[in-house]
Formats: sequence, C-alpha cells, structure tokens
Amino acid sequence: MMQPQRVTCVVGARPNFMKVAPVVEALQKRGLTVRLVHTGQHYDAKMSSVFFDDLGMPVPDAFLQVGSANHAVQTARVMERFDADCESFEPHLVLVAGDVNSTLACALVAAKRGIAVGHIEAGLRSRDWTMPEEINRILTDNCSDLLLTPSADGDDNLLAEGFEPWRIVRVGNLMIDSLRKNIDRAQRLQVPESLGLIPGSYAVATLHRPSNVDEPEQLAKLFAALGEVSRDMAVLFPIHPRTRARVEAASLPVADGLQLVEPLGYLQFLGVMANCKLMITDSGGIQEETTALGIPCLTIRDNTERPITVDEGTNTLLGSEAGRIVPAVREILKTGGKSGRIPDGWDGHAAQRVADVVEGGFRTLTQGA
Ligand code: UD1
Repeated sequence: MMQPQRVTCVVGARPNFMKVAPVVEALQKRGLTVRLVHTGQHYDAKMSSVFFDDLGMPVPDAFLQVGSANHAVQTARVMERFDADCESFEPHLVLVAGDVNSTLACALVAAKRGIAVGHIEAGLRSRDWTMPEEINRILTDNCSDLLLTPSADGDDNLLAEGFEPWRIVRVGNLMIDSLRKNIDRAQRLQVPESLGLIPGSYAVATLHRPSNVDEPEQLAKLFAALGEVSRDMAVLFPIHPRTRARVEAASLPVADGLQLVEPLGYLQFLGVMANCKLMITDSGGIQEETTALGIPCLTIRDNTERPITVDEGTNTLLGSEAGRIVPAVREILKTGGKSGRIPDGWDGHAAQRVADVVEGGFRTLTQGA
C-alpha cells in the first residue's frame, strides 16, 4: 500500500477520546491530512465535549449526531452518515478505536468501500458473547487490514483466530499515552480536595455495564454493597447516564456515605483516580488506568478482555456477586492490595508507533517486504 495521505480518525463514545487524541496529534505532526469524525454516540457535554477540551483535541471536522438509540438503529445511523462522509473525503485509511457501536459501524462502512481500516486496541477478547462490546471487537477486527494491539495477549488471540501475522502490530496502550501526558496537570488541580475528599483515604466506584445496571435486582445489591463500603471509607461515585436512569427508575435507596456526582471530565477523573485508596468498577479502560497508576482495582465482572491488568497489574477480577465487594475492600484496607507492574508498551509512546506504521504505508507490514 502507498503511504496514506488522507486519514479519517473516528471517535464516538467516551472511551474513544483518550485513545484517539494522541494519534490525531502524532499523525498531524507527520504532515498527514487528518479528518476527525465524531459520530455523536455520546453527546452530553460531560460525556463528550469536556474530553475535547481536557485532551486538547481539535474540534471534529464532522459531527454525525447519531445520538442514543437501540443497537441496530444506532449502528445503522452511524453507517449511513459515515458512508456519506467517506464519499466526500475519500480517505485512504480509516482508524477506529476500541469496541463501541461507532467503532464497528465505521469499520464496516470503510471495509465495504475498499478503504483500508486500522483498529486501535485490536485483539482484546472477553470470550463473553453476551457483551455488545465483544461482538463489536471481533467483527471490527475482521473488517480491519491493520490490527494495532495494546499487549501480547491481543497478538495471541488474533493469531489463534487465524489472522495473518503481518497484519498485527503491537503498538502498546494509547490510553496510557493520554494518561502520562496529563497526569501532572490533573494532580495540580487538587480534585479530591475540591470534592471534600482526603487523598489516599477514599474509594471511587463506577458502574455502567448492562449486566450490572440493567437488572434492578443486581443494581440494588451492588448499591447496597457500596453503601456498606461507605461506612468504612468515603466512596465517590461519578454516575453514568445509563446508571442514573436505572437508579431513578428503580427508586433505589442511596446510602449517605455514597457520594453520587455527575460524570467527571478527563482531568477531574484522573485526579480522583490517581489519589484514591482503591477503585471499584466494571469499566474496561479503568482497569488499565489503575494498573498504570498502581492503584488497586476491584472489577465487578465475571470476565475481562484485559487479563494483563490481572496478571501483571493491580486488577482483581471479583466476579459480579455483590457479596464479594465488602470483604475484598477490607482485605485491601488491611494489606494495601496488589501493587503490580506496568506492562510493556504502556510507556506513553504508542501514538508514535501508530504514526510510524501509518507513515510507512504498511510497507514494513506487507508480506515479504
Ligand atoms: C457505551 C459503549 C460502552 C462504553 C460506554 C462508555 C457500546 C455498545 N457501548 O455504552 O462500551 O464502555 O459507552 O460510556 O457502544 N446517554 C446520555 N448521554 C450521552 C450518552 C448516553 O444520556 O452522552 C444515555 C442515553 O440514555 C443512552 C444511554 O446513556 O441510551 C446509553 O448510552 P449508549 O451510548 O447506548 O451506551 P453506553 O451504556 O454509554
């Protein structure tokens, strides 16, 4: 393939922004023409625009305004509008990131148009086909020419599924590029203090997976467990719109010690995460960010597509049973929790490696080259 001159980078939902921001910057520095397309899957200021400000990302060249809808409708809307965008811009390469509906929708559009597709965060697998993200990951990888993986387990998964080795490039973790670039700024903001929290003495909780929040009974059990934790230590809970809607619909009681706040911006969240005693979450990205920061993380899921955070990092896969939360928190309070180490390639230079590959027009990747 020739060097791609025109590259479209896609973002759609919150976890995409911190992965794509460093790539846009690196590609622009190399003199490539970059078009940034925001599908509008996430649209609230707190779920979207604050991240552009915090990460210093350029204003998107196109905003597709797809908004919220069920999976089929949301995916179809992205496809229709992104197809028109490809028609007018004619990119040589489309870069998509992660596992959200916008990722798959845009990869599929580009593949059908014969445009090269690069997948940032390729190869991750939870092996849980009930997760919409797992479907998105597997199908996106299958639409992609270039599989940019964050860690060796990603390479192994792809090779085991029969992808040609020359398509796979381990670039490392792009989310950690953003974390390293911004951590000092986030620390200077003294976010915990501004929320009335004492650094090192509080927990942070986030929950938004359908498997945890869409079933009122499971959500009630998780909230009761977090309420119990809040008797031992302050618990800050920045609440995702999906979760807030479910809590309100079920009229769930919220314990006094559980500090529910609106979703936080990137720097604000980094600030509270870097200074907490422990994290309780079902997020994918937070498992990685806590490993990078050396903060113990309890993941409320039965599986993870990020096993390296358990094997090498600070993550413990607790399972989805709410009863396990309080004993696990007490254990961390007693022992300090897992310390872990930072995986290879989580070094803040992943975007440079992506730019090397793109600039080289995959030359080094083509078989026999
Ligand atoms: C999506 C991703 C998930 C990711 C998460 C991060 C998929 C399948 N899921 O899930 O992988 O971890 O984003 O947040 O793509 N809403 C708002 N404002 C917004 C966005 C959403 O109020 O800006 C509300 C809407 O009521 C919407 C609900 O949140 O129906 C769910 O949003 P949606 O984008 O469908 O999925 P998420 O649960 O956010």
